[in-house]
Amino acid sequence: MTTTARSPQEYIDLEDQYGAHNYHPLPVVLERGEGVYVWDVEGRKYYDFLSAYSAVNQGHCHPKIIAALTSQAQTLTLTSRAFYNNILGPFEKYITEYFGYDKVLMMNSGVEGGETAVKLCRKWAYEVKGVPANQAKIIFAENNFWGRTLAAISSSSDPSCRNNFGPFMTGYEMVPYNDLDALAKLLEDPNVAGFMVEPIQGEAGVVVPDDHYLKTAYEMCKAKNVLFIADEVQTGIARTGRRLCCDHHGFQPDILVLGKALSGGVLPVSAVLTRDEIMLTIKPGEHGSTFGGNPLSCAVSKAALQVVKDENLSENAETLGHIFRAEMQKLVDSTDFVRLVRGKGLLNAIEVNADEDSSAGWDFCMKLRDNGLLAKPTHGNKIRFAPPLTITEEQLMECIEIIKKTAMEFEG
Ligand SMILES: Cc1ncc(COP(=O)(O)O)c(C=O)c1O
Repeated sequence: MTTTARSPQEYIDLEDQYGAHNYHPLPVVLERGEGVYVWDVEGRKYYDFLSAYSAVNQGHCHPKIIAALTSQAQTLTLTSRAFYNNILGPFEKYITEYFGYDKVLMMNSGVEGGETAVKLCRKWAYEVKGVPANQAKIIFAENNFWGRTLAAISSSSDPSCRNNFGPFMTGYEMVPYNDLDALAKLLEDPNVAGFMVEPIQGEAGVVVPDDHYLKTAYEMCKAKNVLFIADEVQTGIARTGRRLCCDHHGFQPDILVLGKALSGGVLPVSAVLTRDEIMLTIKPGEHGSTFGGNPLSCAVSKAALQVVKDENLSENAETLGHIFRAEMQKLVDSTDFVRLVRGKGLLNAIEVNADEDSSAGWDFCMKLRDNGLLAKPTHGNKIRFAPPLTITEEQLMECIEIIKKTAMEFEG
């Protein structure tokens, strides 16, 4: 397809006329990205403080990841799993060693990773734990977000995800997030097979649970022979200042789901990692995907994971995250407009002083855009700040100034 230069409004109109109206983008039309920056079609430069929902942790168009992409794209892109190829096996060895698991199952989108984890958990329940047929239950935390398939929205407590999409999946139990007593009650049921949880609830507004919550929940699950499934699609791969967010708490989830930054934002790649006892319950023909584990994705993912290590992105996220929250706290202390900051590493959010369903977050993001920084509200008054993890301290300080200056425009 050839594209002729158009005005920003013309691009917006085209999406509006020919595309489904399933998103509500901020009105900025991007055409180029490099590192922490993106440029719009009129050449204006912005800091990207969303990083495609934490998929671009390694920065836009990272040269090593793009080199892996172009080299593999010219050699072999897709074989399907009908045949072996010379990339998948070495990559499976690499990623399982990287995260310390026996085996991996490669998929494409994050939601497919979650779905794979749910299927693995059910299979394990019947074939290893001994749950009676079709009785397995999986517990999910309220306000979770793990994608848009029917399996995912069946566990959603957000009406906009569910309205008029029923009927929903059965075998799900809901528990308030960060509530160990409520979890303990549900774990009494011997048919419970798994507890699937985000270590920080990203889409809910970067909700960080109490420090002891995850580890205690993991130990409670272990005591009841229930699998702890960590959805680290958004929190994983250095975003929160560790390789995985669970690493902050010193335990290894039974099943780990990764996506997004696994490819540095270059291709849709997701992975489910677990131990043999669980993974080997799935036999040939029982699960898969034409594109899952294709040579192109694997080559890209290997480069993307190596960049995270080589460039110490966890350490950078940890250090700069402290600086960011400290500076935002100053804003909380000195203004009425910003009332709260929370987060871990470089996954943070502020809450502005307005109703949850107000347009305050959107209005703030529009002004941030005008001032050269792109962010998006997760919900009405909560704005997530998640820059690429390659950001330097100097760049971060510049962004903090933009955020402070913009907040002052709303003060009073
Ligand atoms: C925690 C979490 N899990 C799963 C997903 C779904 O990923 P995808 O949109 O690639 O299907 C998301 C997407 O935002 C997410 O934040």
